Amino acid sequence: MIADLVLNNTKAYIKGEILECSIAIEDGKFVKIGKQPQMPNADQKVDLHGMLVLPGLIDGHVHLRDEEKAYKEDFISGTSAAAAGGFTTVLDMPNNLPLTNSVETLKNRLDIAKRRTLVNVGLYSEFPERLMEIPQISREGAVGFKLFMGNQIGGLNVDDNQVLEAGFRTAGEAGMVVAVHAEDKDQIMFNEQQFKKAKRDCVKDFLLAHTEQTEVQAIKRALKITGDTNVHLHFCHVTSKRGLETIKEAKKTRKKVTCEVTPNHLMLTSADTARYGMMAIMAPPLRAKIHQEALLEGVNTGVIDTIGSDHAPHTIEEKSVNSVWEVKVGIPGLETTLPLMLTLVKKNRLTFQRLVEVFAEKPAEIYGLINKGKLEKEKDADLTIINYNQHWTINASKFKSKAKFSLYNGWEAIGKPIKTYVKGILIMDEDEIVARPGSGKIIQKQ
Ligand code: DOR
Ligand code: ZN
Ligand code: ZN
Repeated sequence: MIADLVLNNTKAYIKGEILECSIAIEDGKFVKIGKQPQMPNADQKVDLHGMLVLPGLIDGHVHLRDEEKAYKEDFISGTSAAAAGGFTTVLDMPNNLPLTNSVETLKNRLDIAKRRTLVNVGLYSEFPERLMEIPQISREGAVGFKLFMGNQIGGLNVDDNQVLEAGFRTAGEAGMVVAVHAEDKDQIMFNEQQFKKAKRDCVKDFLLAHTEQTEVQAIKRALKITGDTNVHLHFCHVTSKRGLETIKEAKKTRKKVTCEVTPNHLMLTSADTARYGMMAIMAPPLRAKIHQEALLEGVNTGVIDTIGSDHAPHTIEEKSVNSVWEVKVGIPGLETTLPLMLTLVKKNRLTFQRLVEVFAEKPAEIYGLINKGKLEKEKDADLTIINYNQHWTINASKFKSKAKFSLYNGWEAIGKPIKTYVKGILIMDEDEIVARPGSGKIIQKQ
């Protein structure tokens, strides 16, 4: 056998341990993992000089935009950012223009993505208006459905419990995960109207409108609606202690409940919103320290299943408006997420094992990506290679993302992704994108 590629001199994360080994790759799969003398001959051999090698990391929550929002980000810039940030697979949210919520819009978006992506990309769909389209959207390969509860975006009336239940039921029958943005629309709208009437529009008013209670209420409501359906609910970006406690309780009786946190809610607090102003506005917003601490504990204990960047690129102009009710919510995150979490590991605030679980093993399990998430023979040869000891400074002007701003600009990080391989192809090498658009693969739910 002649392999396509052998990586020598690696420290690889395999079954919970870091092992010195070599890795052989053929036709985009791992074919042998072991000592260097046992490796097959190969067309190409690379010496990784003892660098840390992880199974390709998965970010289950990104907004890649493109289509009519390409001025903010497109598949090329967004997946370049992913590769630079150490992610080999990203799952794209459906609040696009046009909205991804039908067979037609999904097919069209898949077609565009196919030609432009540098890493593996899976697409979420919003719920369609007609539930009978759900099985077909599933067959076309959407990785899941997204439900925004904080505002009316998709085809299901978010005010109507019965409609939501039918949506959950049908998605469950099709074996689709439903990712939930849990904020209570009515409460937020009411709060917002009060502030607008009082002519209040500062950053702190946004935080007061998007209270912890709006999240807790939406989580409780979504859980209640699941009833006897078989649906898998995955709560996106949990931000509150009580929200997390509610999910923890639900997990005792429901098998298919999982949740995510963003690095923003682990690294920053509402005090930072005051400091950064409009730039730090995101939905749900940053919260007080007590929540931040509960979230980090939740990651370490396993109540929180995944970390997603919620990469939400906007233009500087969109983030520089005067009224908080006009500002576009969210910040880019693909190029800072992994370094920030590696830094937490270095500071003993997060275990290394949990880092691999939340970015690889768990997302692979939740989305049914059976060939991903582990460094094992016959799995897809997606790899994230890290210089674990590199001290460096985050510089947003160097981002591959079109959104060249960050709340972490100037922060010191320890640990840096230095190479990403997607199905055995080198995509990013030392901050440079070295592959062509289209090198990434489309992930379709099996
Ligand atoms: O902060 C956010 N940004 N929250 C959302 O719900 C949407 C997202 C975006 O698309 O920008
Ligand atoms: Zn969201
Ligand atoms: Zn999001």
